[in-house]
Amino acid sequence: MYEKFEKRAREILAGLSLKEKVGQLNQAVVAMEGDDIEKYKERVRRGEIGSVILCNSPTAGNDEQKAVLTDLLNEYQYCAVEESQSSIPMIYGRDVIHGHHTVYPIPLASACSFDPELVRDCYRCIAKEAATEGTHWTFSPMMDLCRDPRWGRIIEGLEEDPYLSSQMASAMVKGFQGDDLSDPYSLVACAKHYVGYGFSEGGRDYNRTEISDYTLYNYVLPPFRAAVEAGVGTVMSSFNDINGEPVTSSKKYLTAILRGQLGFEGFVVSDWYSVSQLKQQGLAENEADCTALALNAGLDMDMSDEHYAHTLEELVLSGRVSEEVLDRAVLRVLKIKLAKGLFERPYAQPHHVDRGEHIELCERLAAESMVLVKNEAGVLPLSKDQKISLGGPYIYERRCHHGSWALDGYLGASTPNFLEAVREVMGERGELFVTSEGLHDDSNYIFSLGDTVVLALGENYTDTGEARCRSNIGLYPQQLELAKRAKAQGKKTVGVVFCGRPLALENIEPYLDAILIAWHSGTRGAHAAARIIFGDYEPSGRCAVTFARKTGHIPLYYNVTATPREVDGYYGIRPSSSYVDSIGTPLYPFGYGLSYTKFKYSDILCENTEISMEALKKGEKLCFRVKVSNVGEREGVETVQLYIRDVKASMMRPLRELKAFERVIILPGEEKEIAFEIGKGSLGFYLADGSYTVEPGEFEIYIGENCLTHNKVTVKITDR
Ligand code: BGC
Repeated sequence: MYEKFEKRAREILAGLSLKEKVGQLNQAVVAMEGDDIEKYKERVRRGEIGSVILCNSPTAGNDEQKAVLTDLLNEYQYCAVEESQSSIPMIYGRDVIHGHHTVYPIPLASACSFDPELVRDCYRCIAKEAATEGTHWTFSPMMDLCRDPRWGRIIEGLEEDPYLSSQMASAMVKGFQGDDLSDPYSLVACAKHYVGYGFSEGGRDYNRTEISDYTLYNYVLPPFRAAVEAGVGTVMSSFNDINGEPVTSSKKYLTAILRGQLGFEGFVVSDWYSVSQLKQQGLAENEADCTALALNAGLDMDMSDEHYAHTLEELVLSGRVSEEVLDRAVLRVLKIKLAKGLFERPYAQPHHVDRGEHIELCERLAAESMVLVKNEAGVLPLSKDQKISLGGPYIYERRCHHGSWALDGYLGASTPNFLEAVREVMGERGELFVTSEGLHDDSNYIFSLGDTVVLALGENYTDTGEARCRSNIGLYPQQLELAKRAKAQGKKTVGVVFCGRPLALENIEPYLDAILIAWHSGTRGAHAAARIIFGDYEPSGRCAVTFARKTGHIPLYYNVTATPREVDGYYGIRPSSSYVDSIGTPLYPFGYGLSYTKFKYSDILCENTEISMEALKKGEKLCFRVKVSNVGEREGVETVQLYIRDVKASMMRPLRELKAFERVIILPGEEKEIAFEIGKGSLGFYLADGSYTVEPGEFEIYIGENCLTHNKVTVKITDR
């Protein structure tokens, strides 16, 4: 894909001095004030900076970041293009994670939409807003498969299923990069954190990981593979080690697998300080060791450490790093700069971007991402004519909806808080009683006034994100207390849970008649939630992650293998493999979500229940159909999900694996037929050496509303 830029990149490379080559691999932290600006310009003129990271702290998602100053970026670029010897433009990177001025749902929430097309369109809008102001490159999407919601960065991921994560990763890359990377409205995407960061032990950030190659290939790598297939321009290496080997210095992960097996052609950037962290990890003694280890392993660009800048020239002169290795890395960087069109259009031309459509799409994605997990006796949707009591810590909060990693989100009128959103959606109808801010001392009284109590619950964005892990992922006790008070008034109680992880809701669940998982859903999060609870929108999100009952049940994910004592695991947990003090089944399983209507599935129809290995190899597929009818009274959206189980194989295979899904709108009384085709690429798995195999034998095919469906047919792959 980037090969077509090879020739021109080589021509440019041929004209570079050793110093200039080193400069191309150096990503320096932006200088934005005072004397630093002039010093920075001097460095750019000397060719010492190939890329600029547009943030000013190592945990950019948590700290206040200065806005991008487009004019200053253009001034710096002028120094690179007009005043440096090589005239090579710099590439500007920023963490534009799930939005720019318009903030979209956190990626975990977006995955719950099961709507990759919409996600792609939204990420296109994000790219447009950020690119216009001068950013060329975003450090997104993150595709770290995560099974431990204590880890704060679960908000940024696409969650526990490799197939869904791959679909979403691909959609995000295509959205950011568009059809043409050189389009001024495109951003170079960055698949991160390669690889294994989501397996941080104990859900503690920056921690070590143990990942077998079998798990790596079958669970962790697929979204990266999908991103590479979608043409992702860059990859960010991860902080962690895998089985004692830091990824930063690993030829196995950075070169053999990423380039040799996945076919990645772009360049690899380190994570912030991860080159220097090789010292903490005990592999390097000094800056030069760090540089030699990282670059020789295949890590092309050094983010923020400047170890390459300080030591690489000397390392090449002394022969510890060969000029060939250096040239290879520089070529990769140049090819992406060429593909981005930086040589033709190095400067940003800021102009007004109409955010109208962006806000509309953002509200749509927010609505599609929210998951209705409980609705006893049809308490939802609420009538707008009734009396509503509103309480909970997130009725007045505005910033929480943006979630972590929203560096540039506008917090104006387009981001209402929940109270404003409910007011707007109810209009002049009904009556609203609201608890005061803070301690909710008046909650008993306020709850006594309404027909229904609506509580805005959850966790704040400051409880989520980088280095923000929680050892207890239940709701805070004050929130349970509020739900008890509402129940004590004998009122129907609805919990709208704004959160960045699948919180353990076991304790509060009995006190709530309905629960909407509203996530941190961005600019329009509060508004979309209000419209769902009042029935303006149909709830249609599905859990992209398992909701455990309590923290002690982690890790709990659906695509497990059987235990030796019967097939149980996630699926019905038997006493022998459960806990003596609690029921170990999930509170809400993967793929689960309710609607305001009901759907009925037919048996699975398939034309052939047998296929030969030969036919599969030729590209033939198994076809399955199912009829889904809307047997309720409202229009609804169903996400029809297909899972497989390879019953007997040379390695233990998961009890269910998602292999296809389709979102369909179905009118009341209507029946829709959904067809799926399953071929070789869905029926096999990776062996520990990374080779893909499909083995003959029986496969169970499940099609239904979530991963626990019993709607099944058995098919067979014959030997020949
Ligand atoms: C994070 C990355 C981020 C980088 C730059 C690191 O601390 O792990 O995800 O892109 O900082 O802000």
